Amino acid sequence: MNKNFWNELAAQGPIVALAPMDGYCDSAFRQVNKTIAPNMIPFSEFYSADGLVHSKDLAKRVLPHADIEKPLIIQIFGKDPEKFRQAAILIESYGVSGIDINMGCPAKKVVKSGHGSSLMINRDTAFKIVEEMAKAVKIPISVKTRLGWENHDLLVEFCKGLENAGANLITVHGRTYKQAFTGKADFTGIYNLKQHLNIPVIANGDVMDYDDGAKKIIHPSNRNQIIYPDDTPLLGLGGSMKNLDGFMIGRASFGNPWCFLPGSYCPTLEEILVTMELHARLLIDTKGPKWALEIRKHLVQYLRGFPGVKLYRTRLVHTETLDDVFGVTADIRREHANLLTMPLEKSTEAAFTEAWDQCNG
Ligand SMILES: Cc1cc2nc3c(=O)[nH]c(=O)nc-3n(C[C@H](O)[C@H](O)[C@H](O)COP(=O)(O)O)c2cc1C
Repeated sequence: MNKNFWNELAAQGPIVALAPMDGYCDSAFRQVNKTIAPNMIPFSEFYSADGLVHSKDLAKRVLPHADIEKPLIIQIFGKDPEKFRQAAILIESYGVSGIDINMGCPAKKVVKSGHGSSLMINRDTAFKIVEEMAKAVKIPISVKTRLGWENHDLLVEFCKGLENAGANLITVHGRTYKQAFTGKADFTGIYNLKQHLNIPVIANGDVMDYDDGAKKIIHPSNRNQIIYPDDTPLLGLGGSMKNLDGFMIGRASFGNPWCFLPGSYCPTLEEILVTMELHARLLIDTKGPKWALEIRKHLVQYLRGFPGVKLYRTRLVHTETLDDVFGVTADIRREHANLLTMPLEKSTEAAFTEAWDQCNG
């Protein structure tokens, strides 16, 4: 993979990415999403740069990945440019396609340690980190950040600094540090940012699915150039402002890998059950049986929108083994045979509300 990776991808159409999410974006989750949406670019959950450098065990546990995950982007956090440099060399040796730096996490303990969002205000350190990493490896370096600390006044200046330091892509979550995860994501500052950068810019925040993202990345002043009868602007055509290069989906992907497909794809109950089984099997295969309990939070999300979910939710949150999971899916098949081939509308709102509670930052 070369430094032009993101430019080449952006030239082919909107970049569609899985947002990095701690406690979710492990190898199993990424594989499930890539099985359903092969063109999507998966970002890992964040890992400590220091941790990777100092603990061989951590690196061996989280950096190996399956071919289906490629092109995989590993996200790291920290504050010491030298640790980032060493971590970058280590990560590159595992054959990943890019490294993303977390400059947006607002969790108290992360910011207090000088990591995540605090790099938006410790700019020289932020630039030095990018510079050191960009020099050290051949794979592209990207940054995921927020609109700013309190507003988006300094976003352009900050991201220009990152670009000059060698960043090949910027992702912006349309909220400030102060907002954390409250309010609605606002892309206004991100559209403006795109006019000032030469590298691709991806927007993130409250994107529900592919179609929603594809609409939202069009600069507002380009939107009324060519309109389909259903109000859909013709992607990338008309208007003189630069459109964004892609979008990243986080919470809406919980239990819904179909969100990355164009056309608001509605899976059938049988497709959902097969995917739940695949997810559970992959989790055990990649992490081992002692991690089996982690599957519970994923499984309940797959059945969002299913009328009988309450009945099975209690059983799903008590599963301990693969056999338990297959026991529940077998019962759903038997007890709802008439629904198996019916498409199931997934409610993204629920995913947003539930994930909010789980996320510290
Ligand atoms: C459970 C959870 C864990 C997250 N972990 C990370 C992380 O490790 N790195 C990161 O950059 N952002 C993290 N985020 C933020 C998401 O990547 C994303 O910016 C945010 O959820 C908004 O996007 P969405 O509305 O599509 O979910 C996390 C969010 C959630 C809900």
